[in-house]
Amino acid sequence: MERHADGVVDLFADPAMSSLSGADLSDPALARRMVDSRLAYDGPPELGHWAVLLGGDLVGLAHLRPSGELPGGLPEIGWYLAVRHGGKGLATEAARTLLRHGLDELVLHSIWALIHVDNASSLRLAARLGFLPVGEGRHYNGPHRVHVALPGQV
Ligand SMILES: CC(C)(COP(=O)(O)OP(=O)(O)OC[C@H]1O[C@@H](n2cnc3c(N)ncnc32)[C@H](O)[C@@H]1OP(=O)(O)O)[C@@H](O)C(=O)NCCC(=O)NCCS
Repeated sequence: MERHADGVVDLFADPAMSSLSGADLSDPALARRMVDSRLAYDGPPELGHWAVLLGGDLVGLAHLRPSGELPGGLPEIGWYLAVRHGGKGLATEAARTLLRHGLDELVLHSIWALIHVDNASSLRLAARLGFLPVGEGRHYNGPHRVHVALPGQV
């Protein structure tokens, strides 16, 4: 992901990308800090952060890594797509690819997603992928629905 660091900062220049994330990453200094913390990832090597490319251009970001929010470092997935590429299923495709990688190839026992209660498009995306809503809690400085995907159920 290192070669996409500047691209990720540019991607987050759109305030819509972080409006529900608890920090305004349209501030390039904050976005750079977010990128640095992703680049400093030192968890299991098969997990981590992925750049979402379309025809070689960076259009989004996804991660599948031990959660810092849920107990026991449970595997947590997340997705981001530039607004100008939204509404065509690209984020769904990227998230589904990572979900299938985690469940089928890495044989994870569960994959978790924390989605802000007001993030309607992300909640629809999770439902499309077959995530089960299992509760609600305060995460990333705001109310989030807790979702899980289990092998054989998505
Ligand atoms: C969350 C986010 C990725 C969703 O983007 P998105 O454009 O809705 O997602 P997709 O690219 O998968 O597109 C899905 C939409 O395209 C439509 N669509 C069209 N063709 C499609 C296809 N072939 N497959 C799936 N969906 C398709 C879907 O119906 C859906 O529209 P709907 O939500 O109105 O029902 C995006 O809003 C974002 O990055 N937000 C900021 C970051 C963020 O909040 N991340 C989530 C943190 S948990």
